[in-house]
Amino acid sequence: MTDLDQMRAHMLTAIDAAAGLDALDAVRVEALGKQGRVTQMLKTLGAMSADQRQVEGPRIQGLRTAVADAIAARKETLERAALDARLASETLDMTLPADAPLTGTIHPVSQVMDELAEIFADLGFAVATGPEIEDDWHNFTALNIPESHPARAMHDTFYCEPQASTNGAARMLLRTHTSPVQIRTMLSQKPPIRIIAPGRTYRSDSDATHTPMFHQVEGLVIDKGITLGHLKWTLETFLKAFFERDDIALRLRPSYFPFTEPSAEVDVGYTIVKGKRVIGGSEGWMEVLGSGMVHRKVIAACGLDPDEWQGFAFGCGIDRLAMLKYGMDDLRPFFDGDIRWLKHYGFSALDVPTLSGGVGA
Ligand code: DAH
Repeated sequence: MTDLDQMRAHMLTAIDAAAGLDALDAVRVEALGKQGRVTQMLKTLGAMSADQRQVEGPRIQGLRTAVADAIAARKETLERAALDARLASETLDMTLPADAPLTGTIHPVSQVMDELAEIFADLGFAVATGPEIEDDWHNFTALNIPESHPARAMHDTFYCEPQASTNGAARMLLRTHTSPVQIRTMLSQKPPIRIIAPGRTYRSDSDATHTPMFHQVEGLVIDKGITLGHLKWTLETFLKAFFERDDIALRLRPSYFPFTEPSAEVDVGYTIVKGKRVIGGSEGWMEVLGSGMVHRKVIAACGLDPDEWQGFAFGCGIDRLAMLKYGMDDLRPFFDGDIRWLKHYGFSALDVPTLSGGVGA
């Protein structure tokens, strides 16, 4: 056996015997570190004659590769064993009885989403969903917001890093509204369509009434002979059921959205009670949602004939609905995860909203 063979055998044994990652690293330093034995041998190549180097070079390099490979393999084994040990020690026994009463509550946003689903189910609406990481076409173009449209700038969009494979052409984004679910629904279902789409939306905006992630609910009806009258009745019925009051007053103001024509912003009336705004009556007005008749171009972009099919749509901030109904005046604590806030404003998991029981019960 040559010295080199002996050294190889010695090192491989030491690698195999290393009981932990620290011990293995010590072996690595001793062999391949700056002052390591293999490194030192590689340095001797410079002083050799060309003939000698041709023989010794591959042998020493071979030793280095064998040692490095053995260290990598041993490292993987040790890491896997460490992970297995951790997983084995971190099991949670789900059969143990809970020793404290359950403290979790249903977040007001989840509660309001459940209330919306309940109210709209009664009107024949299904719940639809779409991805939060959306593409430009569904979020903007198909909604009649072309590339150069100023509405794109207004949305303060979060864009994803361009993907190398698409040459940056198809940049994904975090959906800025729930309106792309209109498009996805029209593309995947045949009309008549009646859906609401509650979910998370994102814009680069942050103050007392704006958070970078917030919630919206979209409504969409596509059928034959749909008019603004249907829209107004639906919104009135929804808001009366939601706020659990019959004296809800609505005001539709002409507005502009690229995906509806005509468009209307909807205000709901409020009364001042003990210095606080309470929904109902008409002492003042507060904007709650955007709406309108679905634009012909949007219907056509989804492959439907706008002469045959019409519809209405609306979009509404869920967080704001929750604030108005349950009396919070700052949006930011909604997403702080503070257990005291959740205990105060949250709902019991057993209190499922039903129309008969009162949706806010
Ligand atoms: N997508 C709009 C927004 O985020 C809200 C909206 C307005 C939705 C009018 C609609 C609509 O469906 O018809 O500001």
